[in-house]
Amino acid sequence: MPREIINVQVGQAGNQVGERFWRMLLAEHGLDESGFYQGNDPLQLDRASVYFTEVEQHNEPTKYVPRSVQVDLEAGVCNQIRSGPIGSLFRPDTFVTGQSGAGNNWAKGFYTEGAELMESILEIVRKQTEACDALQGLQLIHSLGGGTGSGLGSLLLSKFREEFPDRMLATFSVLPSPKVSETVVEPYNALLSIHQLVENSDLTMLIDNEALYEITARTLKVKAPEFSDLNTLVAQVMCGISTSLRFPGQLNGDLRKLGLNLVPFPRLHFLMPSYAPFYNPQDRAFMRMSVADLTQAAFDRKNLLVACDPRFGRYLTAATIFRGAISSREHTQSAVADLQRKNSAQFVEWIPDNVSVTLCTVPPVGQTQSATCLANSTAVQELFKRTLTQFAAMYKRSAFLHWYTSEGMDTMEFSEAESNAQDLISEYQQYQEATVEDEEFAAYEEGAEAEGEEVYEGEQ
Ligand code: GTP
Ligand code: MG
Repeated sequence: MPREIINVQVGQAGNQVGERFWRMLLAEHGLDESGFYQGNDPLQLDRASVYFTEVEQHNEPTKYVPRSVQVDLEAGVCNQIRSGPIGSLFRPDTFVTGQSGAGNNWAKGFYTEGAELMESILEIVRKQTEACDALQGLQLIHSLGGGTGSGLGSLLLSKFREEFPDRMLATFSVLPSPKVSETVVEPYNALLSIHQLVENSDLTMLIDNEALYEITARTLKVKAPEFSDLNTLVAQVMCGISTSLRFPGQLNGDLRKLGLNLVPFPRLHFLMPSYAPFYNPQDRAFMRMSVADLTQAAFDRKNLLVACDPRFGRYLTAATIFRGAISSREHTQSAVADLQRKNSAQFVEWIPDNVSVTLCTVPPVGQTQSATCLANSTAVQELFKRTLTQFAAMYKRSAFLHWYTSEGMDTMEFSEAESNAQDLISEYQQYQEATVEDEEFAAYEEGAEAEGEEVYEGEQ
């Protein structure tokens, strides 16, 4: 029996990305826009219940209903979903909307407007959990730059942690970029959210609008990228990441196993996704690539959803997922091993076998094959540095702070968020520099020499 995931999408970005994600999930599982099965591959339904509740109706086929809650402090985007092509798919009582929005103010989402809606949201989530056989965890889709997804999203995450302490909490978190949006306080909202994500999330998939914009403009050659273009990419990548959760296979079959393989230290759970091939539906959809090229592309900076350069950091761990027309598992494993050998300096040597390989024969929608990589690389510190620098420039001068304090927020929280981000950056740096020799030395210092040697000999 597959274990269930509950999806919670919050704010404009959360709901717009979420809508794309659900539409693609439908197609992948052979479901039509009303949630009825039209496919012809039993693999599609095998584990569909991870994300969908199967509703048995009298004299009617089973309906697959998203296990999802849609939240926004303003009603516009949720109304669009309701009146759009998949509006009838969702349970009507799983939409929670407010009147006014959080106006790009994290404090409104976390402390005032958002906090008022919190109890009614939790009530719906509780009902959903009670209907599950064995809930594996919850996933949150939100942006970090606005007020609702970031502030209320953070608040919900902390409540989930309190209420479901032994369930996995995963987030798909959209980071702001000046290329896409020009709201001045986004670095504040983003850093305050990161502070919360460090403490309350188990797995955070980082989606950087800066990188999405670049891929859309450069690889897909879209002249003036819009959110819908960016969100198609995000949905593609979310489907890639969740492949091992949704289709049968041995490896990384649930969120906890994925977390176990990817997160060596609890705070360092910020993962950078990449995907290949990104294609323009007009011309390259059915392009075939060799396994070696596909592997190369999955680790290529150009295909990374975060504007960081992995060559400046080191991979602690990574999970790769190959889909569709792939020759064999051995082939992919040796392609990954080959890539690691050629770029050995980029992978920490003190975690042996740190790249996992999963295979799924069901191809992604509209493509014959794909590779997704989810990387825990110390290069992610670039992203935190970028946000911290923008935050600090304003915070030093107390710019815009009154908008937050007037919602009852203490400036101490800004200082705490700032120092938490600084600590996070130096933790990444420390592990980037760590070598096996350091560890041996540390083991020796602790008088654990024999044990240490045994471990390192085994690795060679
Ligand atoms: P408020 O509107 O302030 O109450 O909060 P919200 O959560 O609705 O804000 P929103 O999600 O619009 O957050 C703004 C940030 O999200 C900016 O960085 C935008 O660039 C980004 N954003 C908004 N909509 C989308 C979207 O559909 N896709 C992507 N990728 N980013 C989006
Ligand atoms: Mg909004």
